[in-house]
Amino acid sequence: MCGIVGYAGGRQALEVVLEGLARLEYRGYDSAGIAVLAGGKISWAKRAGKLGNLQSALAEVPPPAGTVGLGHTRWATHGAPTDPNAHPHTDCSGRLAVVHNGIIENFADLRRDLLARGHVMTSETDTELVAHLLEDEMEQADGARPSLAGAMRAVCRRLDGTFTLVAVDVRDPDVVVGARRNSPLVVGRGNGENFLASDVAAFIAFTKEAAEIGQDQVAEIRADRVTVTDFDGAPVRVRDFTIDWDADAAEKSGFKWFMTKEIAEQPRAVADALIGRVDRDGRIALDEMRLDDEALRAVDRVVVLACGTAYHAGLIAKHAIEHWCKIGCEVQLASEFRYSDPILTRSTLVIAISQSGETLDTLMAVRHAREQHSRVLAVCNVKGSSIPRESDAVVYTHAGPEIAVASTKAFLTQLVSCYVVALYLAQVQGTLYASEIAEVLGHLRRMPDAVEQVLGLMEPVRRIARELAGERCVLFLGRHVGYPVALEGALKLKELAYMHAEGFAAGELKHGPIALIEPGLPVVVVVPSPGDMPVLHDKIVSNIQEVRARGARTIVLAERGDAKVAPYADTMIELPPVPPLLQPVVATVPLQVFACELADARGHDVDQPRNLAKSVTVE
Ligand code: AGP
Repeated sequence: MCGIVGYAGGRQALEVVLEGLARLEYRGYDSAGIAVLAGGKISWAKRAGKLGNLQSALAEVPPPAGTVGLGHTRWATHGAPTDPNAHPHTDCSGRLAVVHNGIIENFADLRRDLLARGHVMTSETDTELVAHLLEDEMEQADGARPSLAGAMRAVCRRLDGTFTLVAVDVRDPDVVVGARRNSPLVVGRGNGENFLASDVAAFIAFTKEAAEIGQDQVAEIRADRVTVTDFDGAPVRVRDFTIDWDADAAEKSGFKWFMTKEIAEQPRAVADALIGRVDRDGRIALDEMRLDDEALRAVDRVVVLACGTAYHAGLIAKHAIEHWCKIGCEVQLASEFRYSDPILTRSTLVIAISQSGETLDTLMAVRHAREQHSRVLAVCNVKGSSIPRESDAVVYTHAGPEIAVASTKAFLTQLVSCYVVALYLAQVQGTLYASEIAEVLGHLRRMPDAVEQVLGLMEPVRRIARELAGERCVLFLGRHVGYPVALEGALKLKELAYMHAEGFAAGELKHGPIALIEPGLPVVVVVPSPGDMPVLHDKIVSNIQEVRARGARTIVLAERGDAKVAPYADTMIELPPVPPLLQPVVATVPLQVFACELADARGHDVDQPRNLAKSVTVE
């Protein structure tokens, strides 16, 4: 997510804002900018790249001294990471500056209306619209100019999606106004100064007294007071609190590890992955998809290319594509793809899945596929990275920056994005009725809540992880989409706990791996729904009985109320009931928590495991 800082007080706003942005750097970003109010003007600077680029620009042209201002570090969603797309964004008059974190869903309609009213846009971003919408609100036809806060309330009532907005206006030179919906915003209360930020880490160096801003609320800060209302202007009481973290902990919002923070962010990430995916007629609309329907109608085969966790997402995507699109889909390790003799044609759609968009194995495989004249669709989390740039089309996963090396929220948003791509393909090829697509979308919209439910039941998982911290090996079993989940659970344990772990298709046990079973060996089993997949369910219950009969310690992930499997589970982890193809979205979460907790119990650096890099840019 982007980093936001606002300040009104007695210090030089530029220093306070830059200090705050520096403390938010850990969140990952690809551009930065600031605005300061001074002498009846807004002085601003913004640059793509890291804070150093912005500081160089400020050194060349220092802004005038001012004690009110704002700043932003951007994680690109709409529009590539360029100087013009960096925040802040101003209105036509230059009297307003705005920064934003989130995604405005009704972006296209608002942009069209503003252009029709003669506004001039200078960027591709959704944020810039807010500056022009505020401009219109401030230029009230009857001359009764509202306050900046009043204009912000009026604009927020017109926005769909998720947003934290912070703005300044030369006509209200002592105030900074912020607003939030589904995206973080917090007030820092100082002595003769106040702060607005997306994260307490931005102002913890100046004050530990804070106040939460609630959903659909607007906060005005001045040097000497803070005023908070709802979007209709009614005053609201805010909850004050004292931050009891140190600066380092604050970067992780109080979580011990970035990984635990990112696991906790998954409901929001899954919700963000779905934003803007459906048009007003209920049809799937992938706004970054640059492959036209004619090309997609000609697709007769899909090849998924990826590495590591992204490869596991591909294995799950295969089930969805084949089930909904009735098209053959194979999933290949990108590092193997180039050295085999892949059979690709112009009607093969290659889907390259990559969180970073920089994995060289996947990038080289994409180049190879394009040399074979196949069309390539990237499913990627980083705007403007190499793989999307070298693909024909891209669907961004909108997971936000993923700092921990072990991929968590990126994986869940890869799944959701791949489901949506499969539904889009089925829509274009006519292999699903609109009603069927709508039904799946309805289930997908309930996934953020389902993930939230799972996160609320993780205490038994943390307990069993600590109990098993001394083990040498853990096996993971699954069938159908549960098999890639087993592979992902094993990978998490390998990369975090440095423990041998292996994922198997449960049906393969009797073909060899069952020889590994010995008394006390932990075996984690992902069990499908007894109602939706009775045959597979009964077979995997038999597999659990087989390993248990040989002394294994069974840790079973199964649908809440699954009485058939309960007698064979030494530990039962309950999952909310979801459609079979979507079960990986909820079943993976306990395995992430299990690996993270076990690694922590072993005293490992969970965020930076040994020998690993977040993005593997070597072959
Ligand atoms: C996942 O936890 C690992 N960090 C690793 O397997 C990762 O998924 C793989 O390197 C692919 O990275 P990418 O998604 O950025 O291409």
